[in-house]
Amino acid sequence: MNPYEQKRRWKYFLLAFAVVIASGSVFYTSYLVKKISQSERTRAQVWALSMKQLANTYDNDFLTYVLAVRDSLVVPAIVTDTKGGIKFVRGLDSTKTYIKMDAQEAKLAHKWYDPQYFKDELEYMKSQHEPFKITMLNEPYLVYYKDSALLTQLKIFPYIQLSVIAIFLLVAYTAFSSSRKSEQNQVWVGLAKETAHQLGTPISSLMAWIELIKEKFNAETDPLMAEMENDVKRLEIVADRFSKIGSKPQLEEHSVYAVVKEFVDYFKVRVSSRITFEMTGNRRLIAGLNIPLFDWVLENLLKNAVNAIEGPGTIRVQITGNKQKKLIFIDISDSGKGIPRSKFDTVFQPGYTTRKRGWGLGLSLTKRIIQNYHNGQIFVKESEVGKGTTFRIVLKTMKYDKEAKL
Ligand SMILES: Nc1ncnc2c1ncn2[C@@H]1O[C@H](COP(=O)(O)OP(=O)(O)OP(=O)(O)O)[C@@H](O)[C@H]1O
Ligand SMILES: [Mg+2]
Repeated sequence: MNPYEQKRRWKYFLLAFAVVIASGSVFYTSYLVKKISQSERTRAQVWALSMKQLANTYDNDFLTYVLAVRDSLVVPAIVTDTKGGIKFVRGLDSTKTYIKMDAQEAKLAHKWYDPQYFKDELEYMKSQHEPFKITMLNEPYLVYYKDSALLTQLKIFPYIQLSVIAIFLLVAYTAFSSSRKSEQNQVWVGLAKETAHQLGTPISSLMAWIELIKEKFNAETDPLMAEMENDVKRLEIVADRFSKIGSKPQLEEHSVYAVVKEFVDYFKVRVSSRITFEMTGNRRLIAGLNIPLFDWVLENLLKNAVNAIEGPGTIRVQITGNKQKKLIFIDISDSGKGIPRSKFDTVFQPGYTTRKRGWGLGLSLTKRIIQNYHNGQIFVKESEVGKGTTFRIVLKTMKYDKEAKL
């Protein structure tokens, strides 16, 4: 199985696991909430009964017992008469006494009189639970109660818990993936630098050998020598590309059309003549480019296009611009096998390939060159399996050359 398929399966598995844990936690807490809610209703009922007993009993021992029971039942409650007037409260903020005081008295008692607080609490209790009716000294009363602070906290607990876990996972994932990315970066850059370095010495020796051979065998005009020189120059270009990957390259302003055209012309004579190349576009657009690296991008995209075409086909390159947004678009389309929509992002990951002899490095390198060295973007603009694909490069440093010949 390829590593990306495996990674995707793992992602689904972990996601499913997280959903099971989350719903398990919510389900279990809501079960607990239900249980505690039932027990709180019983407490409120017992408390209401104890009120009734208090009012009706004159037996001192029994009174003490009832008081003890009553105080152990912490459920916030309000007792009203049938007209809704508040008679007793319990378990609420005692500093906001419901007993009417004037400002001076309240200040002395370190309390203040806040009738609105109790009214609001009563309304809230009415919305939460049905009241009990009790009769004390032949008078009917209503006992309202609300969930205790503990129960309220328990109700929101699973959501807090899940959010904390989610935040933790997000932070851990971001940290982990950014450290992995910088590690990958170092490997890329290190490998590129080392390759350029290693190639440097034999290439300069080869150049010198060629000169010597020409002299020694009087072979200045021999076509074989020219071919050999061409190959060594090609090697030089490769080494140059690698050395540019290893350090921040200079961008120079060039006509995008001219640079692309030159490479397409060089490239098209080297592939099967059954593939037709077409090039259209605006010739006045200028962008900052590093030619050796940008040629590498074009080479990768055009090679992929050629690989995608079986038999005869067309490769079309189009260059357009958006003056207001200062953007240049380079679209490379082929009439090849296409890319399924689910793979539009995956094709850019290193190691992803569908070719027998492919390394899956071409597009990942291309993306790197466009994003990191040209401050641009590259993506699959559109593709249909069996019909073809268009890759789009967006360059952001557009200038417009009015003088350019069209
Ligand atoms: N124009 C295209 N049409 C269809 N599929 C494409 C096209 N370009 C890329 N792909 C798909 O994306 C994969 C990855 O491309 P990439 O250039 O990164 O690697 P590769 O071409 O397989 O190997 P190499 O490292 O030699 O370039 C290809 O194997 C192919 O499946
Ligand atoms: Mg490729």
